[in-house]
Amino acid sequence: MTGRLIDEVVLVTGAARGIGRAVAEKAAAEGAAVGLIDVLADQLATTAEAIRATGARAVAAVGDITNENSVAEAVAQLAAELGPVTVLVNNAGKNAYADATRMTVDEWDSVFDVDLKGAWLMARQVLPAMIENRRGAIVNIASIHAKLTTAGMFPYAAAKAGLIGMTRSLALDVGPHNIRVNAVSPGYIATDLLEEFFTTFPHERDHAVGVHPLGRIGTPEDVAEVVCFLASPAAAFVTGADWAVDGGLGIRYA
Ligand code: NAI
Repeated sequence: MTGRLIDEVVLVTGAARGIGRAVAEKAAAEGAAVGLIDVLADQLATTAEAIRATGARAVAAVGDITNENSVAEAVAQLAAELGPVTVLVNNAGKNAYADATRMTVDEWDSVFDVDLKGAWLMARQVLPAMIENRRGAIVNIASIHAKLTTAGMFPYAAAKAGLIGMTRSLALDVGPHNIRVNAVSPGYIATDLLEEFFTTFPHERDHAVGVHPLGRIGTPEDVAEVVCFLASPAAAFVTGADWAVDGGLGIRYA
């Protein structure tokens, strides 16, 4: 087999659908054994089965990234079946549409638990083996909202900006162990999550395509390509970076 991720064990959170599924499929096509984590048991099983049908190794573990016991169990199960994790893709996330004056503390916590704390819990679980083996890469799926945002999506931008900050901190801390940590910031990518955004803000649907310098919305595969590059030895000297995959949306002044 040839590919950029031969001999890698790639663990992807939120892998049942959308960008996470595309990352898992691309990583498998690049030669990796893939471990898939999600809370959506049925869709997760379907995705894992589809990857195995290509001849690749794929194992699914139902798990909630916001719960440290669930994270520990899922990672242990996947590592037992596939071997030590060499690449972690922190992809699971959710949108937020709260009002800062009415949002409850529980609602705030639920956004930060998925969009920020979960990535740390996952990293905490896989890093000891990576450090011991002096080998590893972590890719955090942030968002264009980490730098530019839209009214009505409080506090998504804050959580995603935090994820970029965590990417920098981790990159500095684990760099000496030969582990790289990078972020990818997608713009508009055609997934169920984007459909949810367009349903919440219907006027954005027609507007969105026109404002992209490349004249289209992105696909999950567009993101998966960059994630797999950053996870691979081809990106050996890239760490602490935040790669935009937004069709040029983030360079526009207006
Ligand atoms: P999606 O909603 O289609 O998929 C997200 C997956 O994460 C789902 O399968 C969901 O079940 C899973 N998930 C959610 N909470 C979880 C938890 N606690 N534990 C385990 N799994 C959990 O979303 P999409 O569009 O594929 O997004 C993936 C990532 O990309 C997210 O972090 C999102 O914030 C980010 N992103 C997406 C953009 C877009 O336009 N679609 C733009 C910018 C960032």
